Amino acid sequence: MDELARYRLDDRVAIVSGGSGGIGVRTCAALAGVGAKVAVIGRSAERLTAATDAVTAAGSEALPIVGDMTVKADADRAVFETLERFGRIDILINAIGGGAGAVLHNAEDYPEKDWDWIFDLNLRSTLLPSQAVARAMIAAGTAGRILNLSSVRGQLGLNAGYSAYVAVKGAINALTRQHATEWAKHGITVNAISPTFVRTPQVESMLADKEFYEKLIARIPLGRIAEPDDLIGAMLFFCSDASSFVTGQNLTLDGGLTATQ
Ligand SMILES: NC(=O)c1ccc[n+]([C@@H]2O[C@H](COP(=O)([O-])OP(=O)(O)OC[C@H]3O[C@@H](n4cnc5c(N)ncnc54)[C@H](OP(=O)(O)O)[C@@H]3O)[C@@H](O)[C@H]2O)c1
Repeated sequence: MDELARYRLDDRVAIVSGGSGGIGVRTCAALAGVGAKVAVIGRSAERLTAATDAVTAAGSEALPIVGDMTVKADADRAVFETLERFGRIDILINAIGGGAGAVLHNAEDYPEKDWDWIFDLNLRSTLLPSQAVARAMIAAGTAGRILNLSSVRGQLGLNAGYSAYVAVKGAINALTRQHATEWAKHGITVNAISPTFVRTPQVESMLADKEFYEKLIARIPLGRIAEPDDLIGAMLFFCSDASSFVTGQNLTLDGGLTATQ
């Protein structure tokens, strides 16, 4: 028996919401590399090209979908377009989010405007595609996989103005457990991964601060931050038959950071 066959995604259809991002492009390439067809969602048509090219280069089929996943009609349309093109949906990866370092405020003064922005960017953008995909999976009677991108910050307080990001990633962890519980009867598993810093354009300016970077990696036992490549093993596990009996879990990918807390 080929034990690795359980990680293959041949003939399966994946949606990567935020697939044009720093983590998203590598994710799309990996899913295509093990056989999945991939629908890639982002607001900028131009930015989707790197992801769709990566899927094609891996020998699979890509569908670019332009839409704002904080808008219900766009999330519903993304599912409709995927079904129209590929006929089924097996996997959703929610990879929209971030904003962590962009709006830092003391907790006692955290402005509602920035709080709402971080919550829409991370939580609403996870909720709406999850609901739309779950409805399609339930209607079709197909078992499926949903994987949410959380962050190690959902588990740890930080003395640096991150109230909204820490709270929203904690909410994503809770929503992961809730969706897993409610949708298990439909054969849909819902899990999350929680990376520490991943080297992507979104965090480039923070990492360029030498003092910040040295302090950061001093706290990580493996002595470095993650590369997008470091997430792929866990993603393929959660998206494939290899994780058939795993749901409601949150795997921390942090080089040992939380082990020290
Ligand atoms: N990078 C890290 O260090 C790190 C660490 C831990 C967790 N994470 C989490 O991992 C996830 C991905 O992070 P990343 O670094 O890959 O982020 P990123 O590079 O900013 O990518 C996010 C992608 O989502 C798209 N997007 C943003 N808002 C959208 C919306 N409303 N509708 C549709 N698409 C939207 C963006 O494309 P458009 O602008 O064209 O829409 C972008 O391609 C986030 O949840 C983040 O919190 C990241």
